[in-house]
Amino acid sequence: MKNILVTGGAGFIGGNLVRFLLATEPEVTVVNLDKLTYSGNLANLEGVLDHPRHFFVRGDIGDRDLVRRLLRERKFEGVLNLAAESHVDRSISNAEVFVRTNVLGTQVLLAAALEAGVGRFLQVSTDEVYGSLGPEGRFREDTPLHPNSPYSASKAGADHLVQAWHHTYGLDTVITRCSNNYGPWQFPEKMIPLMINNARRDQPLPVYGDGLNVRDWIHVLDHCRGLWTVFCEGGAGEVYNIGGHSERTNLEVVRVILKILGKPESLITMVRDRPGHDRRYAIDTGKIERELGWRPRYDFEKGLVDTVDWYREHQDWLDQVVSGDYRRYYQEMYENR
Ligand code: NAD
Ligand code: TYD
Repeated sequence: MKNILVTGGAGFIGGNLVRFLLATEPEVTVVNLDKLTYSGNLANLEGVLDHPRHFFVRGDIGDRDLVRRLLRERKFEGVLNLAAESHVDRSISNAEVFVRTNVLGTQVLLAAALEAGVGRFLQVSTDEVYGSLGPEGRFREDTPLHPNSPYSASKAGADHLVQAWHHTYGLDTVITRCSNNYGPWQFPEKMIPLMINNARRDQPLPVYGDGLNVRDWIHVLDHCRGLWTVFCEGGAGEVYNIGGHSERTNLEVVRVILKILGKPESLITMVRDRPGHDRRYAIDTGKIERELGWRPRYDFEKGLVDTVDWYREHQDWLDQVVSGDYRRYYQEMYENR
């Protein structure tokens, strides 16, 4: 039996990872540590919350006493750290909590993992730590880090700490750097669910700048399979890029969403650009493909149709998560553009 700690397991990727592990790894028990911030929601764990191999703990990865106690008591084979503040626009409005959770929280987890003798620490990072590309080229694992937003700077800080814990103290660590995820249970502040949510309500679809920024899109389940592959088979101290081989401009993605929903392109509203907006991300996934045999399986256009269908079928979930705090935040953001 493998005893695993997943942090941030009530969020978008973490919730999908918990479901994936419970469904595909009968030997794995998951303890799920999550603070339940605005983007963490127990509704994301519907159907698996009471699973006999899943234990939910509400708490902050930066709470040193809680984290040390949990790691000492449970003797984890591994920690997969997904807990984070994850949205670039929010980091531009208020960076402090990004540093607290993404940098300090990761340091608390690393120290506790070393102290408790955890077998392996997987840090879930992002391609955004590499910065921004021009029209050519791809990020490789040895591309120098050049983060541009407070979000990506905090993730890069965490990556450096993880590598320091490996180099200095010998903790067995691996880092994954993945491109933009899409799929079910994503909080509708991120582009794809935001556009689906607005389009279904015939609200404007706010496209930043000229809409020609490029992201590489990956289905969240391809990412989860990649995380587990790296956790089980990656080399200690190594970094692995994960990507979807699906580069699209934002306008291309928005137009496809409108087409799937049968809504008019007149809903597209060009708004002021995001400050410091990274132009293009593209990932070289040669290392994980060659060394660990992982490749993305989802076709983007097909995955997007399935994803739009999922949100259509989960309108109650959308209504629930966009109420309260998020609605106020989004209105302010939108009015300021
Ligand atoms: P999310 O915002 O949907 O989920 C984050 C989760 O972390 C939430 O459940 C939240 O409650 C929890 N959390 C936040 N602060 C916490 C704290 N201090 N202690 C405990 N829990 C806390 O984000 P996501 O999109 O699922 O991203 C998960 C991870 O994957 C993040 O580390 C992010 O940087 C990384 N990542 C995301 C993407 C993407 O496209 N979404 C791509 C690459 C990497
Ligand atoms: P986002 O989903 O926030 O992910 P990230 O900034 O981490 O890549 O944004 C994806 C792209 O979509 C990015 O280029 C910004 C753009 N975008 C919009 O044009 N409008 C929006 O309302 C949002 C949220 C994003």
